Formats: sequence, C-alpha cells, structure tokens
Amino acid sequence: GIAILAIDGPSASGKGSVAQRVAEALGFAYLDSGALYRLTALAAQEAGIDWSDEQGLAQIAQSLDVRFEKDLTFLGGQDVSGLIRSEVVGAGASKVAAFAAVRQALLARQRNFAVAPGLVADGRDMGSVVFPGARLKIFLTATATVRAERRYQQLIARGESADLVAITRDLQSRDERDAARKEAPLRQWDDALLLETSQLSLDQVVECVLSWWKT
Ligand code: CDP
Repeated sequence: GIAILAIDGPSASGKGSVAQRVAEALGFAYLDSGALYRLTALAAQEAGIDWSDEQGLAQIAQSLDVRFEKDLTFLGGQDVSGLIRSEVVGAGASKVAAFAAVRQALLARQRNFAVAPGLVADGRDMGSVVFPGARLKIFLTATATVRAERRYQQLIARGESADLVAITRDLQSRDERDAARKEAPLRQWDDALLLETSQLSLDQVVECVLSWWKT
C-alpha cells in the first residue's frame, strides 16, 4: 500500500515546514490540507459567498480549481501563494473549516494526494478522519508563546507588518475555535505520538520525525 505519515497540530506549530522537509527526504508527496481550507475561504470571498453560508461554502469547496506547483498555489489560474497566507484568510479558513459540509466536500480531494510511494499530510485531522490508517501519526505542538513568536518571524520574513501581541491573541482564539468545534476538533488522538517542539530547531524536529518513521 501507500505509506502515509500524518502530522497534526495547532497553528504555527511548524507542521508545514516539517512535513515539507520530511516529504522531500523520503521522496513522498506532500499535502498541506490547511491550504485547501484557506483556498475555500479565499474563493468564497472572491465569489461574494459569506464565511457563514455552509451550503454556499461547500459548493465552493467542491468546485475549487486549484493547482499546486512547487512552492506556488494557483486558484483559477491566479497565483494566490501570498494571499492565502495572510492572517485574514487564515481566520476565514478557521471559520469555514468548522462546517461539516465543507469538510466533506474536501475529503476526496485530500485522499487523492496519496500516491506511491507515499504521502506526508499535515493538518488537524489527517490521522483521525482523512487517513485513519496512516502508518505513523504525529501530534506536533509547542507552547502558545513559542508558536506566536514563530508566526511573527514568518510574517516579518515575508515583509509583512506584524504585531506579536495581536498574533498571540489571534492564535489563542483560533486554537480555541479549532478545539471547541464539533467537526474534527483539534486534539491529540490516542494513536498519535506527541512531539513537543518548543525547545527544538527545525532540523532537530525533522530528524526526530525521520527517525520515528524509520523504526
Ligand atoms: O497553521 P495555521 O493554523 O495558521 O494554518 P493552516 O494549517 O493552513 O490551517 C488554517 C485553518 O484551517 C485552521 O485554523 C483550521 O481551522 C483549518 N484546518 C482544518 O480544520 N483541518 C485541517 N486538516 C487543516 C486546517
């Protein structure tokens, strides 16, 4: 079968960078499931569909015309790589992701990323809902302070203006919403290994994941 490595965890825990690096090292495909929720939020905004209109959002999610190419993401042929990373779209993603119909509409699309020899998938419900049969499931996290600092550095590196206090507050409310929702709540599932990364560098985290994968 196709080997699946599921990495779930809260906002700005470093899942994306870790998953990408691990996928590269293993020669596996990579699924950034959060990008699909971000794209749904953005596409809805562009189509004038409200972030509270479940059926409208599900239609948008179902018919997303998206293409991933190296580090770039295209929506209907438009390069939206920068746009979908904005904090506004991130907040929208968290809102649209709370709807069962939206999650359902994105399910098959996510599973289609699983191709031989394997896939590294990052998100909130990779190990629980999308790929429950994954060979290895990791819950990647860090303290709220460390995650806020990482997101801050990310935004600064991209040349965006950033405010650490506001980021910390937004992260906390996003975490609370993601954990409290009925659909695929953010949680460390019983069969996932906990990786607390507050004291680790990116290299160290990647090394740890690869060593777990190989044992
Ligand atoms: O890391 P960050 O939370 O900033 O971004 P992300 O991983 O791109 O996810 C954006 C939003 O999509 C999250 O706040 C989640 O609510 C949602 N999401 C989800 O519900 N399920 C997933 N598998 C991935 C993301």
